[in-house]
Amino acid sequence: MPLKDRVLAVLEENKGKSVSGSEIAKNVGLTRSAVWKAVKVLREEGYSICAVTNKGYCLSEENDFLSEQSIIPALRTKYLGRNIDIFKSIDSTNNFAKSLAQLGAEHGTTVIAEVQTQGRGRMGRPYYSPLGMGIYMSVILRPRLSVEHSLLITSCVAVAVAEAIENVTGIDCKIKWVNDIFAGNKKLCGILTEASVNVEQGGLEYAVAGIGVNVQNVTFPKNISDTATSIFMETKENVSRSQLIAEILNCLEDKLEAVNEPSFIDEYRKRSNIIGKRIEVTHNDKTTSMTCLGIDELGKLLVRLDSGEEKALTSGSIQLAGNE
Ligand code: BTN
Repeated sequence: MPLKDRVLAVLEENKGKSVSGSEIAKNVGLTRSAVWKAVKVLREEGYSICAVTNKGYCLSEENDFLSEQSIIPALRTKYLGRNIDIFKSIDSTNNFAKSLAQLGAEHGTTVIAEVQTQGRGRMGRPYYSPLGMGIYMSVILRPRLSVEHSLLITSCVAVAVAEAIENVTGIDCKIKWVNDIFAGNKKLCGILTEASVNVEQGGLEYAVAGIGVNVQNVTFPKNISDTATSIFMETKENVSRSQLIAEILNCLEDKLEAVNEPSFIDEYRKRSNIIGKRIEVTHNDKTTSMTCLGIDELGKLLVRLDSGEEKALTSGSIQLAGNE
């Protein structure tokens, strides 16, 4: 591990508290002057580290930079997040994760960025990803699932992210099928799952779960300002993005283990904000009104069209109908 990362690990472990230069030096096996140099580099990178006479160095509690040192100590996982790539800026973490997956990257490999220049949402929409405001992460998953069961991955990620946000912030999170996370009637998080199928073996080769959470935002662009919210706007509190990333990975590993159990889909149903409601479904640029009846064992959306015909949908963009 590079020198400055070893120093950062000690400062992260003691975040908000002062640690003397000699204590850090002893801990990481360096001289005090090497510690001083490492602190200088970290400051140049933007870390807010103060030096207090006779007390030592202190990483500010407000410091919310993403690093392996700030995320990994909070993991309880065996696989997820044990391999992390963090970028200051990237086009899309999903693009990078997909190329890693094609090169054989392991189950649980995670790609994170402070900003995305071409963040992507479902249906080819752009995803708003401003610097340092949110969580932009993609996790490579290699679950043993048939193509028929692959929609469950998406449902699984949604339940895990909803639970993680709730654990860390206390916000009551609902899921709009298939995987938008809502706080009240506003969107807090979007998920884009992209998968590759192994045609010969008839199963999933890998899935990339791309997760975008609005964390510190206080404003949004006009086109989404009426429909989007952030953790800060809901709680008026500054949440540590590193802690939330770790909790998402913790919850996701637990949920993936339970994805084949019948109780899993009940958890998903309990978080749904559309069951029993009138909805509008847009598919291939055509919008149709219908009633949502429920969600089946494979995660498909059960609906009744106004003609009385009942269907199980596997894709589409859902809106709650105007009077709901
Ligand atoms: C949606 O709301 O339609 C899904 C949004 C998914 C956004 C995440 S952010 C991390 C990952 N990288 C992307 O380009 N998209 C996903």
